[in-house]
Amino acid sequence: MTDNAARQLAAELPDLEAYWMPFTGNRAFKSSPRMISRAEGVHCYTHDGKKLLDAVAGLWCCNAGHCHPKIVEAIQKQAETLDYSMAFQLGHPKVFELANRLSEISPEGIDYAFFVNSGSEAVDTALKMALAYHRLRGEGARTRLIGRARGYHGVGFGGISVGGISPNRKMFGAQLPGVDHLPHTHNLEHNARSRGLPEWGAHLADELENIVALHDASTIAAVIIEPIAGSAGVLLPPKGYLERIRKICDRHGILLIFDEVITGFGRAGDAFAARRFNVTPDLITVAKGLTSGAVPMGAVLAKGDIYDTFMTGPPGAIEFFHGYTYSGHPLAAAAGCAALDVYRDEGLFERARAMEQAFEDALHSLENEPHVIDVRNFGLIGAVELEPIADQPTARALAAFRSCFDNGVIVRTTGDILAFSPPLIIDEAQIEQIVESVRGALRAA
Ligand SMILES: Cc1ncc(COP(=O)(O)O)c(C=O)c1O
Repeated sequence: MTDNAARQLAAELPDLEAYWMPFTGNRAFKSSPRMISRAEGVHCYTHDGKKLLDAVAGLWCCNAGHCHPKIVEAIQKQAETLDYSMAFQLGHPKVFELANRLSEISPEGIDYAFFVNSGSEAVDTALKMALAYHRLRGEGARTRLIGRARGYHGVGFGGISVGGISPNRKMFGAQLPGVDHLPHTHNLEHNARSRGLPEWGAHLADELENIVALHDASTIAAVIIEPIAGSAGVLLPPKGYLERIRKICDRHGILLIFDEVITGFGRAGDAFAARRFNVTPDLITVAKGLTSGAVPMGAVLAKGDIYDTFMTGPPGAIEFFHGYTYSGHPLAAAAGCAALDVYRDEGLFERARAMEQAFEDALHSLENEPHVIDVRNFGLIGAVELEPIADQPTARALAAFRSCFDNGVIVRTTGDILAFSPPLIIDEAQIEQIVESVRGALRAA
């Protein structure tokens, strides 16, 4: 942007100082803002009219594309009809409808939905469900929670405790006690440039047996993992890994939670990664694509057995002392139902699967570009990993991000990894545009 254009933009914008932005370099942003003021389909538009192809679907969430007319209409209609009703001891029809619709597309046996407002809340809710479930069954000593290195489960205290991303943890004290971590599955020596799931590494699941041996199964409540780790840079499960984790959990009576906040709603080429991989966990956390990003909402999807375990005690008693003022908010529920309609009517989960090969081929054409040390993909999620500049971690990816932005494409960076998760309506020409923009950025650097 020229100095003149920057000055003009600043004159048209509100004062930027008071807003403390999340996961953002506030000072850098405010000195050179990138403002998005409008979006439609796969495109966003900046305040000053620049058109951008959104290669990350917002933040892995706008799976149906931005401002889908049917979702917009559903939200508008709901806002005129019922803006809010008390979430405790009262209900409204849309939220029951959404729960029913989710049970139709969930893996078999996962029939219940508990609504929250974000992925972080979904994770903390699922962890609490797991602890309470064991206690209700008379196994109250099962209090340990097992996460995974490089896992991202949001920013609540539960989520950062089981999560495995150091900067998200280190400033925030001791966190939950009794948490342990599996190793992550990312290994460039064995699996660099994998197309789809890597061949090597299923044995890494066996580390769970060592953790069980160390603590004893009778103390472990749950294992939580992302079937495909997203925020740490698209880390794929080796073939057979998730099946092995499932088996070990079964052997020891440990609940398995899949955090599908990113992989849910088509991203992995099916309604849920659990369905695509044919591995059914006990609880699934979702958010993001649940409303196609249009209204904040998350949920924990639970097996019938878990719900039934709670449905005891005196009639009329509250069974789970947990919930949020905005659990199942009418606007979010309406957006969720409309998003599920769009996914079904436009066949978007199938479309994601159908576009997978073109996406894979296009991304892997970047393998030999400067500084690329890995390219990986599954469904409509992918990553290009760059060799970090010595003593300047993240600088290479940030430079590529800026260059792509200037060239009209929004990508996501995490460390020195460029991540891609386009809306499921993306077409081949647009995939090409994303990849050529990255190629240009890498060559220019
Ligand atoms: C796997 C996973 N879990 C949880 C979260 C947290 O979701 P939210 O930002 O809505 O709290 C995220 C966000 O990216 C995520 O990727």
